[in-house]
Amino acid sequence: MAEEKAKITGLLNKLYVKDCIEFMRELPEKCIDVIVTSPPYNIGKDYSVYNDDKTRQGYLDWMEKVAVGSKRVLKENGSFFLNVGGKPSDLVIPYDVENRFRRHFILQNDIIWVKSIAITKEDVGKSNGLDHDVLVGHYKPIQSSRFLNNCHENIFHFTKEGKTSLHKLSIGVPYQYKSNIARWGKKQDIRDRGDVWFIPYETIQERRPHPAVFPKKLPLLCVKLHGVKKDMIVYDPFVGIGTTALACLDLKVNYLGTDVDHNYIKIANERIEEIKAQLKL
Ligand SMILES: C[S@@+](CC[C@H](N)C(=O)[O-])C[C@H]1O[C@@H](n2cnc3c(N)ncnc32)[C@H](O)[C@@H]1O
Repeated sequence: MAEEKAKITGLLNKLYVKDCIEFMRELPEKCIDVIVTSPPYNIGKDYSVYNDDKTRQGYLDWMEKVAVGSKRVLKENGSFFLNVGGKPSDLVIPYDVENRFRRHFILQNDIIWVKSIAITKEDVGKSNGLDHDVLVGHYKPIQSSRFLNNCHENIFHFTKEGKTSLHKLSIGVPYQYKSNIARWGKKQDIRDRGDVWFIPYETIQERRPHPAVFPKKLPLLCVKLHGVKKDMIVYDPFVGIGTTALACLDLKVNYLGTDVDHNYIKIANERIEEIKAQLKL
């Protein structure tokens, strides 16, 4: 036990150029509090090392191996937040992956990550006193006449038993109608944000160093929702350029990350050093 604790402590707060399944095999059982990650979606993205073009069967079998390895290392009351998207011509990828994960986990929450939304003034205005349309976020416009612009992805929240208690108010939002505070017997103007999260991509002008990152706010909200504890460990098996690690630095919690791409890990480490310098860590 002490040996296992020392082993994991020695690994913490670093990123590894390694296959995630191999890495998890070397970790002690039940040592991770939160896994938050976005795997490749098998939609032919142009990663520099990984080939995002497996057969569907091969891809789903691989995702299931990730589920099995993750279940072994996750604590009994841990949370696994799995962000997956599809493409307009293949919308069921996330649900196929979710199905494979559900062979090993319980789907405790199904969160919709909204990247862009258009609310016309007639819908938003009355209750909020706004007299203009609200058009926010970024998306990749679709040229086809068959498909709508794809403005959302899934974040599946898996747990071992479906009974993991969450810190919902740590990511809470104010009540829209203040009379509801007393009506629902609450003392503070803060309520559960619900399972639809608007998180826009950060606007960047320079060339993107990675073709498929998520915004830092995504892992940040997930870890806070699970509950921040000083000695907790957050793992991102597909860490890319280190967005989850940056969220962990903000939250002052331990992280671990793996990616098969040496160059992405190098960029991730540069981003981490930049944040550490800003935070004077
Ligand atoms: C969707 S991206 C994750 C991006 C990340 N969320 C970020 O914000 O930078 C998926 C990543 O998985 C990596 N990858 C592919 N196969 C892997 C494996 N077997 N083990 C670890 N990482 C892998 C790819 O190199 C890619 O960077």
